[in-house]
Formats: sequence, structure tokens, C-alpha cells
Amino acid sequence: MRYSRIIGTGSALPEKVVTNHDLEKILDTSDTWIRERTGISERRVAADGQTTCDLAEQACKQVLERTGVDPKSIDLLVLGTTTPNLIFPSTACLLQDRLGMQECAAFDVNAACSGFIYALSVADQFVRNGTVKRALVVGAETLTRMLDWSDRSTAVLFADGAGAAIIEASDEPGVLSTHIHANGGHANLLCADVGVSEGFKQGEPRGGLKVLMTGNEVFKVAVRTLGRIVDETLEANNMDKADIDWLIPHQANLRIIQATAKKLNMPMERVIVTVHKHGNTSSASVPLALDEAISTGQVKRGENLLLEAFGGGFTWGAALIRY
Ligand code: UT7
Repeated sequence: MRYSRIIGTGSALPEKVVTNHDLEKILDTSDTWIRERTGISERRVAADGQTTCDLAEQACKQVLERTGVDPKSIDLLVLGTTTPNLIFPSTACLLQDRLGMQECAAFDVNAACSGFIYALSVADQFVRNGTVKRALVVGAETLTRMLDWSDRSTAVLFADGAGAAIIEASDEPGVLSTHIHANGGHANLLCADVGVSEGFKQGEPRGGLKVLMTGNEVFKVAVRTLGRIVDETLEANNMDKADIDWLIPHQANLRIIQATAKKLNMPMERVIVTVHKHGNTSSASVPLALDEAISTGQVKRGENLLLEAFGGGFTWGAALIRY
């Protein structure tokens, strides 16, 4: 049987740290409210001129260096993002050029916060069916570029970053299964409601480009849906909760993460949490957490990792990985 295996990861964060106390100065909010309701203490914000592609490039160069992989030997580049540099070409195309890769397929996947799980799922299919030997999978965002800094319901949550993984064909189990879903019926609960085809809003900053979220509604659906995707993933692999060594969740809210951990009967020591220092970096959140888990040596070869995410669309997904 042919699997894809993760051979390495990398990540990148902007230098600028914005703490809850910094936000207290510009918004009607408090460090206590943000920490208690979300688990976030600080987040990273891209510098002026620093783009999604810049962060993605930094994360990819790190994984290329760590693995010694020649970028020319990569057959596929899939990049999850909701905040591309340009409308087109895709950020994946810009990144392919910067990394000096050959003329492999390169494309973006827009699945909001589930972007990395979607990208990994797509790349995994190509590797499994034998079309591709080696793929670069990226999640990268500059979400703060589309925040309304006067809206306390979103400004305290979202942030910037990038994470990358190289996967490669192997006879040994690696990615055991991926599961991706969407339900466009809830599109209005989490969105940025302007665009090329819908048009932009006259007289509003950036043409009305901003994140809009009905947080408490999203919260309820997220907890319920992530519970279901965990069951679906375990069933597909004939596994029990106890078979999972590590939960590597999307980092939107510590309370959502705790609810999924509880569903898995998992102590929080087996859950990778970065939300306190990264905030919600959308597509970048899972690969940033994965890279932290691997580079700090917490996750060991042979262990079972459950990655999951939920985001605007709604989209959601999970990947079960034998690392
Ligand atoms: O990554 C994609 C998926 N996204 C998510 O999963 C996010 C899901 N949602 C959440 O994480 C939470 O719903 C939030 C953190 C966004 C909000 O927490 P909540 O406990 O659901 O609060 P709420 O929206 O029900 O608001 C409770 C109160 C409201 O005041 P009133 O009406 O009770 O007087 C809000 O106006 O908290 C107020 N509030 C704030 N207060 C201080 C909302 N934002 C803030 C804030 N600082 N930043």
C-alpha cells in the first residue's frame, strides 16, 4: 500500500507581538475577557509590506533546509490561504517561483481555517494514487490585513503566520486518512462579504473588506461538528480514542480545543496548544502547531496524531497521521 508520510515541517511568524494589553488601549476589551473567553494572551502581526507569500517562503525554506530536500524534486505545491497576496496569480505560483521549484502544479486552496487540512488532503490523494512522489503543503495567512481594528469581536482573535510540511510517498503508514467537509448554508456566520464579483463597498476602508463573525453561533456549530469529525475519523480507521497519542487542533479558541479533547478523553498534556501565543491564524494554525509539536520533540515517530480544523464556509476536516 502506498502512503504519504510527513518528512519534515517548518514555520514562520512575524516579529511583531501584539498583547491583549496593547489591544486594551485601542478597544473596549480587557486582557481578562480575552484570556477567559479565548485563551489568547498575544498574537503576531505582519509588518507593513510583509505578505502571506513572505511568511510562506520563510516556513518553506525552513522545512527545505531541515530535510535537505531539493525544491526541484517537489512535484506538487498546495497552499491553503484566505489572504492571498493577489487575486491572481495564486500565492502558490508566487511561492513556487521564489523557492526555485520546477514546473510542478501549484495552486491555492481557500477553505478558510480548514485550509491546511484541505491542502493536505488534496496532496495526499495525489501521492496515494501515484501521480506525485513528493509534495509541499502550506498554510499561510495575513489575516490581520482584513481585520477591522475597531471591532472587538474579531480584532482580538485573528493573527498572522505560516506553516509548511513536505510529504513523500512511502510503503510505511503515514497519513492514514483525511476527511474534509463543507456546508455553505452557514456562509453568513463567518465571512468577508465583498469581492471581485460581488463588488466592494464605496466609501468604506479597503472597500468594506473585513472579517464578520457571529462568534457564539460559530462556537456552537464548531464544537458539535468537530465532535462528529473525530468520530468519523476514528471509525474510518477502526481505532479507539485511546489509540490517539496527540491532538493537534485548529487554534481558534481554547474552550473549543478543550471540548474536543474531552470528547477524546484526552488529558490536555496530550493536546498541542499554541492559541495563547499565536491567536487564530486560520490556515496557518494547524501547521504551526504541528511544527511546534515536532520541532520541540514532543511528538515521536510512530505516534498517532489527530489533526482537525473548522472554519468559514463552513468547512471542516481531520487528518489521522502515523508520524
Ligand atoms: O477559526 C474559525 C472558527 N472560529 C471560531 O471557532 C470562533 C468561535 N467563537 C468563539 O471563539 C467565541 O464565540 C468568541 C471568543 C468569538 C466570543 O466568545 P463568547 O463567549 O461566545 O462571547 P459572545 O460573543 O457571546 O459575547 C459575550 C459578551 C457580549 O456582551 P453582552 O452582549 O453579553 O453585553 C459581547 O459584546 O462579550 C462581549 N464581547 C467582548 N467583551 C470584551 C465580545 N467581544 C469582546 C471583547 N472584549 N473582545
